[in-house]
Amino acid sequence: MDAVVLVSGRGSNLRAICAAIDAGTCDANLVAVVSDRKSAAALEFAAGRGIPTCVVSLRKGDDRALWNEALAAEVARFEPDLIVLAGFMRVLGAALLERFPGRIINVHPALLPSFPGHSGAQDALNGGVRISGCTVHVVDSGVDSGPIIAQAAVPVLPDDDAESLHARIQVQEHRLLPRVIHQIATGAIALDPLRVNAPSGDPTRSLTAPDV
Ligand code: GRF
Repeated sequence: MDAVVLVSGRGSNLRAICAAIDAGTCDANLVAVVSDRKSAAALEFAAGRGIPTCVVSLRKGDDRALWNEALAAEVARFEPDLIVLAGFMRVLGAALLERFPGRIINVHPALLPSFPGHSGAQDALNGGVRISGCTVHVVDSGVDSGPIIAQAAVPVLPDDDAESLHARIQVQEHRLLPRVIHQIATGAIALDPLRVNAPSGDPTRSLTAPDV
């Protein structure tokens, strides 16, 4: 299964996917790493592994729809079966969602549907929850709102700050995301675009994932 990974930052999840591929536990072929930021450390890592990289920048004042079109065209060049958002900090527009319906997944540092958005760990702390975690979900047009595929729980400790909680959550992300990718590759998880586009609350929308 060919996958394109979208990144904006450090790329620890990208590294985890690559480590799982190397270990033979993730049956994916990373055909490209695409970023909205040319300074993303993940790009350097990808290039070092010989994975093609490209940048589609979005600057203040740029036309968002045009950026979405450019991003979709760039990703489509690599003809991926799956697109993985691994720390990609932009909401995707129709251009990419319509080109790859139900074939885009994201990893989020909270137990969705609680605490979507940019600061999942801090929001969980502010909410006073005792358990947080990470979620891998299918991407739809909302913010972290698509069907949930798999989750892993992480305790919130009394002296946690956002950084320490996020670090503990990332340990689980690095385990969960490569496993979900592998299960999509092997057909153990089926990404059905019809289900993905069903309205929230519709029971046919949920995906049946084996225990990960
Ligand atoms: C992860 O915590 C992920 O959940 C969120 O962004 C972070 C990316 O981390 N969407 P990294 O760049 O993979 O280290």
